This record gives sequence, C-alpha cells and structure tokens, in this order.
Amino acid sequence: MNFPERLAADAALIEAHLQTALLNRADQPVTHAMRYAVRGGKRLRGFLVLEGARMLGVPESRALPAAAAVEALHAYSLVHDDLPCMDDDDLRRGQPTVHKTWDEATAVLAGDALQTLAFELLTDPALGGADVRVALVAALSRASGIDGMVLGQALDIAAETAGRPLTLDEITALQAGKTGALIRFAAEAGALIAGADPMPLRRYATALGLAFQIADDILDVTGDAAKTGKRLRKDAEAGKATFVSLLGLEAAAQRSRDLVVEAEVALAPYGERAANLRSAARFVVERQS
Ligand code: IPE
Ligand code: IPE
Ligand code: MG
Ligand code: MG
Ligand code: MG
Repeated sequence: MNFPERLAADAALIEAHLQTALLNRADQPVTHAMRYAVRGGKRLRGFLVLEGARMLGVPESRALPAAAAVEALHAYSLVHDDLPCMDDDDLRRGQPTVHKTWDEATAVLAGDALQTLAFELLTDPALGGADVRVALVAALSRASGIDGMVLGQALDIAAETAGRPLTLDEITALQAGKTGALIRFAAEAGALIAGADPMPLRRYATALGLAFQIADDILDVTGDAAKTGKRLRKDAEAGKATFVSLLGLEAAAQRSRDLVVEAEVALAPYGERAANLRSAARFVVERQS
C-alpha cells in the first residue's frame, strides 16, 4: 500500500467508528451537525494514532477509539475556529460550515459535544486497562486545553490586534499550541497504548506539527480552494501571525522542509518500521489540501 492508500484506508476506518459512535443519540439538530462535522478531512491525526500503534506492535483495532477521539476533538476545534467570532469562515472540507448550515448556537453546541465525545471514546476498554485510558485522557486534556490547542487559538486571535508583528519565537509558540499539541498527542498515543517510550515520537511530532502548520499557512497564500475545500487568502487580510507573514513564502517553505528532515531523524530509533511515518512527514509539506 502506498501512503495515500494507507491514509485513505485509515480514514475510512475512523469515519466508520465516528459515525457508529454517533448512532442512537438524541435525534437533535446538534446530533445532525456533529455527524456532518466529523465527515471528511485528511484524518492525518487519526492516521498518526493508528500508525504509531501498528509500528509498536499494537493491532489497529485496539487503537481505533483513540484515532476517532483525536479526530472528534479536531472536528470540534474546526467548528469553533470557523465561527464568526473566530475566523468567520463559510466553507470547510468543501461544504458550508456548521454555523452556515444550521446556526451559531448549534455550531457551539455541536463543538462542545464533539469535545466530550472525544473523551468518551477514550474510555473504551479496547484501548487497554484503566491506567492506559487515564493516561490517554490526561494527555488529550493537556493537548487540547489552556496549555495546548486553546492557548494557541487564543494567541492566534490576540495576534490579530497586537499592533506589532510577532517574533519567530512567539509564532513558534503559537503554532506549537494551536496545531502542534494535538498532533503531538496523536503521535504519542500509540506509544501510550503500547506501553512504550513516547520520546522519539514526541520529537517527531514536534517537528511534524510545525511543518504541518507552515504548510497550512503557505496553502492559504498559494493553494487552490477547490482542493483545500476552504476559503483561502484570508490570513494576511485578518492580520494573522504566521511563518509566511514573518519570513515570506520562500523561507517558510525552506523551514518546513528542514522540519521534515528533523522529523525523519527523530524516527531513526525505529528503523524501517517507521517507513509510513516518514512518508507522512513528506506528505505534510507536499500536500495540496
Ligand atoms: C486544518 O487541519 C486546521 C489546522 C490545524 C491547520 P487539517 O488540514 O488537518 O484539516 P482536515 O482535518 O484535513 O480537514
Ligand atoms: C486552525 O488553524 C487551528 C485549529 C482549529 C485549532 P487555522 O485557522 O489556520 O485553520 P484553517 O486554515 O481555518 O483550516
Ligand atoms: Mg484559526
Ligand atoms: Mg481558520
Ligand atoms: Mg489556516
């Protein structure tokens, strides 16, 4: 299986798990919005969970609830990121955003419930004993909360009105939170399930997460909306602090390529077993969507 086939196969498993988790729920517009919001996407974070687990000898069926959990959490973050009070976007994954299809209150509540669904999924006994599940819950809480994704989002919004460009260190910290923290959780989850040392995967994910967000920022300037499924060329207008705004396109692209090398080096302890994770690192900066 080549990398795009691997990613698509994992995406299908994750999609099915999420839709099953949303069966037999209250017949409510919020439930319909949740099912809508978890559809589509590249599923890179879920793939990282499954691939980390496979690489460490854990069958993917055991890791699947954690892959679905990180994608539910990510879907919540996108629903809220698109709200008028945040980035005010009307297109996501090629479809109208949740608050456009329903309304803002439904989008806020669907995001809230996707977040709690993520933690519910992490209580699945398939993932292992209570110690493993508590470790996963603790790791996802830290990654998504005020020291992780929420912090990054807060810094991202604050930078719009800071009245001065952020420094390289400030942009790095912002992006490590808003995108990096969840990607780091995803890459480490397999090690938590396997009871293995997460350090090499943490180093890999730190570089990968930053490369991923730089690629997102580059795509905002140079991408094709028909491929990304979201409105582009918004960051500069909104006064977003990105690597592109600070370094320019060329240096930002070079930085992302350097980070891919860093990510690949971090995988050295795993040798050939990490081939798919190496492909993922290259995919992150070469992607068009
Ligand atoms: C978009 O994430 C938001 C960022 C953190 C840059 P993805 O590019 O992973 O979005 P999907 O899940 O594939 O739609
Ligand atoms: C979104 O970052 C990050 C989170 C949702 C946590 P962006 O605002 O850059 O993502 P896009 O470009 O809207 O997908
Ligand atoms: Mg945003
Ligand atoms: Mg956005
Ligand atoms: Mg963006």
